[in-house]
Amino acid sequence: MTVWIGTSWKMNKTLAEATDWAQGLAEALSGRQLDQVQPFVIPPATAIAAVAQALSEEPRVLVGAQNAHWEPAGAWTGEVSVPQVADAGARIVEIGHSERREHFAETDETVRAKVAATLAHGLIPLLCIGEPGAVKDAGGSTRFVLDQAHRALEGLEEEQLGRVLIAYEPIWAIGEHGRPATVAELEEPFTALGAAYGHQVQGLLYGGSVNLDNAAELLGIAHVAGLFVGRTAWQLEGYLRLLEIAADHSTRPR
Ligand code: PGA
Repeated sequence: MTVWIGTSWKMNKTLAEATDWAQGLAEALSGRQLDQVQPFVIPPATAIAAVAQALSEEPRVLVGAQNAHWEPAGAWTGEVSVPQVADAGARIVEIGHSERREHFAETDETVRAKVAATLAHGLIPLLCIGEPGAVKDAGGSTRFVLDQAHRALEGLEEEQLGRVLIAYEPIWAIGEHGRPATVAELEEPFTALGAAYGHQVQGLLYGGSVNLDNAAELLGIAHVAGLFVGRTAWQLEGYLRLLEIAADHSTRPR
């Protein structure tokens, strides 16, 4: 089973910092087996091309964009399109992260349009879903994320769905103010997502306060095919440790 280990840097890193991280990763991976681990990195738009360039000798690492518009070109000041991020070297487009839904008016409709545009241009959509704390407290997590996924993916053909990655990232577990989710809290939503999408999509990932202490147990949850990581992976050492944890997991007999 492929284990995806990805990081989004959010609005962090200068070009020099981004290049250093990516060059360091290329050096660390050079001549090494990745077992069944699939690494990916999602820099801010300003650094996609530099990171792709720094990783040109290490094409096993996929580079992504944190967002892209649904139209290929046009009068959309401040936006970048899927063909533009592809041109810069991106092969994945992150779509619908909760920070974009909350602060940048991302709706189910725009998320859906972006998933479709990403597929149309041959890139991998990384669809982010996740419920707010109040929904969790009311016992509605599983229904909420199933509905979110359904609204983003409804109507896709089997082949298209087969290229999609889904990252389940509960909002209450993300970032500095988040609290790490326990395995017990994640089992039910992943069972439901696994039943609905496990065999249809390219992978179901978990994200939200992943760290070096909880990564192995999170990878052990049924239907989890990878981790999508913020803070722990922004320093290269943290990311490399996560790759090792994933390699151990992927080669463990089950
Ligand atoms: P975090 O971020 O790992 O820093 O909690 C996760 C995310 O927002 O994807």
